Amino acid sequence: MTALFAFDDATCRHLAATHGTPCFAYSGAVAAEQFQSLRAVLPPRVRLAYAVKANPHPDLLARFAALGASFDCASIGELERVAALQLPSGRTFFAGPGKREEELRKALAMGVRVQAEGFEDLARLDALADRGVAVNLRVHPAFEVEEGDRIIGGSGPSAFGVDEEAVPALLQRAAGLRHVRIRGLHVFAASNQRDAAKLLAIHGAVLDLAKRLREAHGLAFEQIDLGGGLGIPYAPEETPLDLEAFGHGLSDLLAGHPWFTGELILEPGRFLAGPCGVYLARVVRLKDSRGTRFAILEGGINHLLRPLLTGQPFPVKAVGKGEGDLPYTLAGPLCTSLDRLGEARLPELAAGDLLAFGTTGAYGLNEGMTHFLSHPVPPEIWVD
Ligand SMILES: Cc1ncc(COP(=O)(O)O)c(C=O)c1O
Repeated sequence: MTALFAFDDATCRHLAATHGTPCFAYSGAVAAEQFQSLRAVLPPRVRLAYAVKANPHPDLLARFAALGASFDCASIGELERVAALQLPSGRTFFAGPGKREEELRKALAMGVRVQAEGFEDLARLDALADRGVAVNLRVHPAFEVEEGDRIIGGSGPSAFGVDEEAVPALLQRAAGLRHVRIRGLHVFAASNQRDAAKLLAIHGAVLDLAKRLREAHGLAFEQIDLGGGLGIPYAPEETPLDLEAFGHGLSDLLAGHPWFTGELILEPGRFLAGPCGVYLARVVRLKDSRGTRFAILEGGINHLLRPLLTGQPFPVKAVGKGEGDLPYTLAGPLCTSLDRLGEARLPELAAGDLLAFGTTGAYGLNEGMTHFLSHPVPPEIWVD
């Protein structure tokens, strides 16, 4: 079972004493275990592409690369980080609803497989290419999905991909392109889903969609990319994804679609990177305010934005103090009442106590929005 905290109390104390706080620490062993435990249950025809957006730390990327991972990128910053790994071609993918020309040029130069999210991606690639380029078409499906998290946005209007009903018109326009050929399908329709049956139902619907597109438009799919969305527990009562059931289910899906002889791609970010990370921050002071006990910490939403964005806190423990049942509101040091990392029941705290937030290896520091997706930070220009 996946532990909520990658490091025991003694290691947390040692890391805090050695490196200072606040800090993030990532366990290479836990990251490798997540990767290998998933890889072990997947049919050989499934390629595992780590979604770099979950955590682009270079050592984490290098560890996954050494284990045979491919990579899903969503910006030029992420492409550059993956380029530094010097992987053979075929191991990098590039998705994202707003790809700039400079990014597409980089993707072409790297031999990256682009997930085209609309006609503009296809046309821009076609104009940049001087030879045949295979791409995948990202489709925003019409089927209803049950998300574990507020990330994808359900089957309503979406900035991602081509709406399923708009695919025929797009294919007609794309028929006139000289270099670009659609050779794969990409659908990402789940988020933080820990129920294998629900994930498999979505993946089954994607294979059905691929079959319909193939029959209606003669598309020959070499690849079907099922996106990410594999969930992890964020609380002790949450059960982890049943990996055996998930792996067997994917084999059954492939067996049920004998027409598809290509490669399935999975792009998990959270599942592979989440459990390896711990965020360490000390209590600066305690305050009782009108019936609420605040623990004010060295870091807040400037380091962990996810609780504010999704309303879901990270698990937290008071290092070296065991269990406790006193209610605390965990506040950061920022001058905004939005700066909350959640509510927690902890032992009696004192200034200087060390708190550890678990499962912060994915969508932790890099979900701070200027870092997210490794997009370039905009310059600030002083005009006088
Ligand atoms: C295209 C794409 N692939 C993969 C992922 C990773 O998703 P997760 O971390 O839920 O597995 C995302 C997340 O937003 C995504 O947009």
